[in-house]
Amino acid sequence: MNNVTKIAISGAAGNIGYALIPLLASGYVFGDRPIELRLLEIPHALKALAGIRMELIDCAFPCLTDVLCTTDPLEAFENADVIVLVGGYPRKQGMERKDLIQANTNIFTTMGRAIDDVASPDVKVLVVANPANTNCLVALSEASSIPTKNFCALSYLDHQRAKAQIAIKLGVSTNCVKNVTIWGNHSETQFPDALTDGYFLSDNGEKIPLSSLLANDLDWVSTDFVTLVQNRGKHVIEVRGNSSALSAAQATADCLKTWLVTGTQDGETVSMAVYNDKGYYGIKKGIVFSFPCECKDGNWYVKNGLSLSDLALEKLEITETELLEELEAAHNVLSKTSRFRAYS
Ligand code: NAI
Repeated sequence: MNNVTKIAISGAAGNIGYALIPLLASGYVFGDRPIELRLLEIPHALKALAGIRMELIDCAFPCLTDVLCTTDPLEAFENADVIVLVGGYPRKQGMERKDLIQANTNIFTTMGRAIDDVASPDVKVLVVANPANTNCLVALSEASSIPTKNFCALSYLDHQRAKAQIAIKLGVSTNCVKNVTIWGNHSETQFPDALTDGYFLSDNGEKIPLSSLLANDLDWVSTDFVTLVQNRGKHVIEVRGNSSALSAAQATADCLKTWLVTGTQDGETVSMAVYNDKGYYGIKKGIVFSFPCECKDGNWYVKNGLSLSDLALEKLEITETELLEELEAAHNVLSKTSRFRAYS
């Protein structure tokens, strides 16, 4: 990365953008590295963006060297080191999932091409906007000069939700709950899995498998826990009257920090939705799927060799099927020149 880290955020004037920007500008993610922010929006939100820029100036963040507000992805992404794609077409009442995918495929085609044209060749891209996995797939397909390893979609919020629920169940700090995994799509078909690799890390470094600590609650882990995490976003909307923004922004910042700055601790994994070019765990190649990942030196690596129960395999198939359906819906809108076609 250059001296000044250039970070572009699309949808910056939205709910998540508003909560995410201070986490980036304050140094929470990149420490005292100087950063420049490029805030990308659609024209109707430019005025709000100008207000956010004023607030950022008023925060006097020492590491923030510049803030650019624009509606042009080419301007926002020029030589960008990190791009966070939060802006997308929202699901409206009565809208079918395929219409949502079509609208977002158009947006993410534009984003992917702009990344390809002007971003740093080492750019790292995190996709937050829904449908996050398939939006990420479209963007990386269109940005054919950028390695697919440089992309991921956010399943880290689901990961944190799962970790928090296990910590509550056990009455321990979230810090002690390790290696829960979100498999698959960032949607209600995801499989939150505490048993395959999850463990409790005690103060003296002892690792106790969650499968033994939760031995009396195995029914809960395979039913209520799963539906609770799968539907958490919907429940937040019901209660808050708006979708998760604070927790989504925090998870976005933590995902970037783990991936690009700190890496994971020895033996620890986090959930990231990444491009499946190797057919990990028998999942079809060519989709973006959430796996347990280790991070080191700015790269993610899918943890291999975990032994999955029959229930887990069944759940993985459900979420894989949904992602293949999304792929097909997106594929119908994509151009013939897209890299995507290689996997069709
Ligand atoms: P929001 O509606 O408050 O903000 C979205 C912003 O994107 C708006 O300001 C809008 O003007 C902008 N936008 C729309 N199209 C754009 C484009 N083509 N280029 C640039 N900006 C554009 O929504 P919120 O709450 O901030 O959520 C953003 C996205 O994140 C949604 O798609 C939501 O479903 C998703 N999300 C994902 C989560 C995850 O864990 N992956 C968790 C929570 C939300």
